[in-house]
Amino acid sequence: MQITFYGHASLGIKIADTHILVDPFISGNPLASHIDIETLKADYILVTHAHQDHILDVEAIAKRTGAIVVSNYEIAIHFGSLGIKTHPMNHGGAWEFDFGKVKYVTAVHTSSFPDGSYGGQPGGFVIQADKTIYIAGDTALTYDMRLIGRRFDLDLAVLPIGDNFTMGVEDAIQACRFLDCDKALGYHYDTFDYIKIDKTQAKARFDSKLRTLKLLEIGASMNV
Ligand code: NI
Ligand code: MN
Repeated sequence: MQITFYGHASLGIKIADTHILVDPFISGNPLASHIDIETLKADYILVTHAHQDHILDVEAIAKRTGAIVVSNYEIAIHFGSLGIKTHPMNHGGAWEFDFGKVKYVTAVHTSSFPDGSYGGQPGGFVIQADKTIYIAGDTALTYDMRLIGRRFDLDLAVLPIGDNFTMGVEDAIQACRFLDCDKALGYHYDTFDYIKIDKTQAKARFDSKLRTLKLLEIGASMNV
């Protein structure tokens, strides 16, 4: 499994020959201006919730690639109405896709569409393929993360660390404890003034708690 960071909360995940995008918000992110969404491959687009900074490029990429949008029921209905292929899910449910198994899990956040309409409840994803990863989405630290740690043997947790709208660094370290996972990839930081962080300090805080915080340059990849 290979993960590419496209800035903010946008990820590319490659599992064998399958290309998955998560929460593509790229064309609206000045920090990601070197990423051209026209060149991104996608068989599936996983969407954690309906906020603009997670769905901005979903429609354009899905229409170009024919990718299947996987999200909560309300978001699936929305993109389905635009003629996009979708797979609706809801909290606690898992589905065996051709690339692996995906479970839609709880996040504590909100999920309205940019026009204010209802975007269902926000979530995160656990993906079980050659490796098992948890993508938290926008969320507070929640004790429910303990359930994920008990249920799955995670190789990586992708956690928001920008604070203000989501968990910050200290809560992300506690999340690693709940998840029983010592390796995190941080996301949802630096994009806006409210979520700017000191990256060196964030890594040092993780190190001091015997956990690793990985931060990728926008466009860079890591193998899980
Ligand atoms: Ni959000
Ligand atoms: Mn967000």
